[in-house]
Amino acid sequence: MIKNNPALSTKVITNNASETSKLAKQISNLAHKHKIICFFGNLGAGKTTFIKSLISELQQIDESEVSSPTYTYVNSYNNSQDVHHFDLYRLKGKEEFIEMGFEEYLESGQICLIEWSERIEAIIPSNTLCIEISHLGDDKREIYMHVLDKK
Ligand SMILES: Nc1ncnc2c1ncn2[C@@H]1O[C@H](COP(=O)(O)OP(=O)(O)OP(=O)(O)O)[C@@H](O)[C@H]1O
Ligand SMILES: [Mg+2]
Repeated sequence: MIKNNPALSTKVITNNASETSKLAKQISNLAHKHKIICFFGNLGAGKTTFIKSLISELQQIDESEVSSPTYTYVNSYNNSQDVHHFDLYRLKGKEEFIEMGFEEYLESGQICLIEWSERIEAIIPSNTLCIEISHLGDDKREIYMHVLDKK
């Protein structure tokens, strides 16, 4: 059981996108526990694929209603709870994130799912769930999940 393990550090291999989507739905309660989930990984790793399924599970909406906020940095969903989906690919760095007032989201206690967290690595708070996705060839991905402890 990954779900209730406080010392969460798990590696999962998925063989295709639907296995990644299934995993995202299985771990959705970790979003309530950690509030902030930071995603790391190259272009096309599967961050959006993961987040679409996660938001669809959290908000009980269809995955087709979730799209990546590539140009707007953040999309917010306010169905039963507030969920913010960031895509920081075009962001220069943490200074720009702070200038745009996005730190408030991290401090809000609301669920934040962040693609391209590499851009703000220095200001990611402790207890954030980090999800690192890497290509293993073809449709295989390694998904490494761990909790950030900055102490
Ligand atoms: N095991 C897998 N897990 C996730 N996605 C997979 C897998 N195998 C193949 N794919 C495909 O890889 C692509 C991943 O694209 P996605 O937009 O999710 O990546 P991303 O990490 O968000 O990229 P970007 O950095 O451009 O935002 C999708 O087309 C998806 O169908
Ligand atoms: Mg993406």
